[in-house]
Amino acid sequence: MTPHHWLRWPAATTPAAGRGPLAFGADYNPEQWSRDTWREDVRLMREAGVNVVNLGIFAWATVQPAPDRYEWDVLDEAFELLHANGVAVDLGTGTASPPPWLTALHPEILPVTEDGQVLYPGGRQHWRPTSPVFRRYALGHVRAVAERYGSHPGLALWHVSNELGCHNVHDYSDDAATAFREWLRARYGSIDALNEAWATSFWSQRYSDWSQILPPRVAAAFRNPGQQLDFWRFSSDALRDYLQAEVAVLRELTPDVPITTNFMVMGGTKSMNYAEWRADVDVISNDHYLTAADADRYEELAFSAALVRGLARSRPWFLMEQSTSAVNWQPINPPKAPGQLARDSLTQLAYGADAISYFQWRQSAGGAEKFHSALVPHSGTDSRVWREVCELGAALSALTDVAGSTAAAGRVALLFDWEAWWAAELDSHPSERFRYRSVVFDWFKAFVDAGFAVDVQPVADDFSAYSLVVAPGLYLVNDETRRRITDYVAAGGHLVTTFFSGIVDDTDRVVLGGYPGVFRELLGIRVEEFGPLLDGEEVPVEGGGNGSLWADPVDVVAPEVEVLARYAGARAGAPVATRRPIGAGSASYVGARLDPATLRGLAARLAAAAGVEPDLDPSAAEHVLRRERHHDDSRYVFLLNRGDQPRTVKGESGFDVLAGRAVQDVVELPPYGAAVLRSPR
Ligand code: GLA
Ligand code: GLA
Repeated sequence: MTPHHWLRWPAATTPAAGRGPLAFGADYNPEQWSRDTWREDVRLMREAGVNVVNLGIFAWATVQPAPDRYEWDVLDEAFELLHANGVAVDLGTGTASPPPWLTALHPEILPVTEDGQVLYPGGRQHWRPTSPVFRRYALGHVRAVAERYGSHPGLALWHVSNELGCHNVHDYSDDAATAFREWLRARYGSIDALNEAWATSFWSQRYSDWSQILPPRVAAAFRNPGQQLDFWRFSSDALRDYLQAEVAVLRELTPDVPITTNFMVMGGTKSMNYAEWRADVDVISNDHYLTAADADRYEELAFSAALVRGLARSRPWFLMEQSTSAVNWQPINPPKAPGQLARDSLTQLAYGADAISYFQWRQSAGGAEKFHSALVPHSGTDSRVWREVCELGAALSALTDVAGSTAAAGRVALLFDWEAWWAAELDSHPSERFRYRSVVFDWFKAFVDAGFAVDVQPVADDFSAYSLVVAPGLYLVNDETRRRITDYVAAGGHLVTTFFSGIVDDTDRVVLGGYPGVFRELLGIRVEEFGPLLDGEEVPVEGGGNGSLWADPVDVVAPEVEVLARYAGARAGAPVATRRPIGAGSASYVGARLDPATLRGLAARLAAAAGVEPDLDPSAAEHVLRRERHHDDSRYVFLLNRGDQPRTVKGESGFDVLAGRAVQDVVELPPYGAAVLRSPR
């Protein structure tokens, strides 16, 4: 158990009622600007309602310009100025980007790619997670920062490093090789056990000594899958070990200051097993950026927020970074539409964020991110972005009472697992088009479109209270998860799983006898051969939809299995989706990646069969998102317009906190608009 749960607000900021405030802020990098600009900054922070900033994230080279010299004046003065203006500080330990003197002195800290390329300084995060030399310097720096600022009354939170693993998680250096061997020894105990787990009797790969083992560097043919999967596990653990090392220094020096590190639950970020990492921090925080080219980018934001809510066990969390408008790092970087800035942040709030923060406060004039939007844009405060920033600040202040409330659960859970993700996307598989996160996301969108509040839960967490549990594409299932899922169904739970689920155990070894080996008996079906489809290939299903990506041929084995959907065309009559009643519960299988409309219909049917009603007016469901937050005595219903057309939502009443008036049965949402309805509970 960790000793804290939320920010340590300076006394002056905490309202008498004890609830709130919601935090509002940004990364603040005063080292990029003159002192005149700092004074303007704090004036504008007050104007916008900013009450916390993330300071010192990339300040290592500024405060320690040489190994034996510290110059604190920039951070000292900026910290005082912020504190005097009522802005609390989430202080970076500053170790994300080692200064040039360190890499000149110790080039052996630089990471190495799988093909032996050294990653040189000049960007950021150019350090090996397992380098003992880097760790010595970095922890020395953390100690110096904590000794200097640990007792500052404006210090609300520690921010370890920054986006651990963004650029350096997979390091194939000799340091990594040494640490990988140690990690494997601890995992397997004997070389024989490792040989068994990695199936090294295949292709003459049997090891006779630990020293022969390497990270999976570029090889002549497919690399051993057990070695690859363990390297994913090891790499996540190695960075987590580094996180723990910084945390240990901070706990020793400042036991009363809560600690966070910003996760990256978004898009394709897959390398860090945050379900495990969360145990090391007091406050879960996340960075989220929209993918401009993704037509479902708003729903992807909701999916990510739902997963962070799951990681945070529905307690408040910190949305650390997002953009007010455009980013700079995608191929094409369009701005956000008017209204989207607040709508996106209120969506994070709906899923339990109590802190809404951005990268960064003032848009840089120089450096690699000068075209990344900020709260104060290049054009200054006479700008749409600044006006929308101030509007959001006002909205968050109106919503103060939401702080500390629980992000209420839905009745449908999607299970999510990092190990299954890593294993499912290794090479030499039936299809390299299979993308685990997309397969899970399809189901999220289907339930949202059908008007259901759907949660996304780390697979290790208790799911027994959900009426319907969906485990899409859960390729790897360990014995414990297998038992928990089987017990859930035996106790009357309703399980749904899909193609490429339950295929291997945690050593990536196939469960024999026909697919999906782990769940075959539970489902009462059998798949003899996988059904991956070629690019562009579609298999029609009855009712006018189709399957793409994957379409398993499913044999029904148990007589009580009902067929929910069938293929049409050449496969006419063969089952696509099945449901086996088991006592009060059931186990269903969906063998194809169905088109969105067909999947939405199927999701609604599966929910109805599990006794779950939609949470939202069905006529609005495709265009609106609905979530609830709860205090013991009050309920907040968040209604968020997903698109650029005005929408009407029926059947909702309460006090519309943002509009400042009561609504009865009908809520009108402008394009990208939001309403938060408060009612007694
Ligand atoms: C990440 C980093 C920030 C900044 C933003 C830009 O989230 O943590 O320092 O680079 O990306 O989007
Ligand atoms: C080649 C190799 C075999 C096997 C097959 C797989 O033929 O000789 O060992 O790898 O490819 O298709």
